[in-house]
Amino acid sequence: MPLPCAAGFTSRAAMIEEIKQAKARALRAIQQAATADDLEKVRIQYLGRKGIFKDLLAGIPQLPADQKPAVGKEANLARKAVEENLNARKNQLGAAKPKAVKETFDITIPGTRPQYGRLHPITRAAYELIDIFARLGFEVVYGPEMELERNNFDALNIPQEHPARDDFDTFFIQDDILLRSHTSPVQIRTMQQRKPPLRIVAPGKVFRRDTPDASHYPVFHQIEALAVDENITLADLKATLDTAMKAFFGPDTQTRMRPSFFPFTEPSAEVDISCTFCGGKGCKTCGGKGWTELLGAGMVDPNVFKAVGYDPEKYTGFAFGLGIDRAAMYRFGITDIRLLFDNDLRLLGQL
Ligand code: PHE
Repeated sequence: MPLPCAAGFTSRAAMIEEIKQAKARALRAIQQAATADDLEKVRIQYLGRKGIFKDLLAGIPQLPADQKPAVGKEANLARKAVEENLNARKNQLGAAKPKAVKETFDITIPGTRPQYGRLHPITRAAYELIDIFARLGFEVVYGPEMELERNNFDALNIPQEHPARDDFDTFFIQDDILLRSHTSPVQIRTMQQRKPPLRIVAPGKVFRRDTPDASHYPVFHQIEALAVDENITLADLKATLDTAMKAFFGPDTQTRMRPSFFPFTEPSAEVDISCTFCGGKGCKTCGGKGWTELLGAGMVDPNVFKAVGYDPEKYTGFAFGLGIDRAAMYRFGITDIRLLFDNDLRLLGQL
């Protein structure tokens, strides 16, 4: 809209009136603007480089000195009001009509499945075994991975120079401190702290000087069991093992005991389960035998009771130590123990 040249104003009052009218027109136009584009046009028309307010302000320097402040003030107030109204309307329009998003988002498309973590097969096997033995009345206890030579060997009836030490050769930290080579030292620790009757299981890591191959690893896991009371017999051992193995590997699982030797049990046995791969018929995994060796067991040797101050005439007990890694392998169909420690998600993700 063409404006009268500011220089043409004759009085301060006329100029202030003109500013007020321009402001009123601007505010109306702002309210009428229906889109952000309309609003931008209004802004340019009134506040732009060549806008109406620019023209109005341009006239101020030519006013008589005593009139300048009042007109200048009015002009600034008007300009501020227009700016504020522009911003407010801009927010209003923005809130009402969000800018169209370029990418379209289809909420009906199924999402990307996140990768969940899960328990390692050894942990899973350990938890399940603990659960089974807990139901049979066994309490869970833990012992340290770093052990005294006495608990790992001497108190278990394996004196220095006894050839059985070779079977349990391990990593020594000091002369009399080593990484335990089985969970059996937890038997000693528990019996030294408590009086019978006792029924405990002790899961954990054990260490041996073994070179890794399909069935050996220098770090592996065992769960130890110990029951001590009056009149505990080999039948209790056999029934406990049979029940636990059926619960873990399935109701068709058979167990058998073969005579064996451990310094800390007498008599001692190796316990086999029927092969979980072929059900006992004989296959490549069990070497055609139909059985797999899973644990060592026996009746607690009187010398072990003596070492912890129990009366061997009064108490009897059974003990066994089961390889958790091996149990996990048979349960989940893993044929090489090293696969359990590779952390390969292609394997772990299947279980
Ligand atoms: N500690 C024995 C081993 O590691 C297993 C075992 C435990 C045997 C308890 C008998 C009794 O081979």
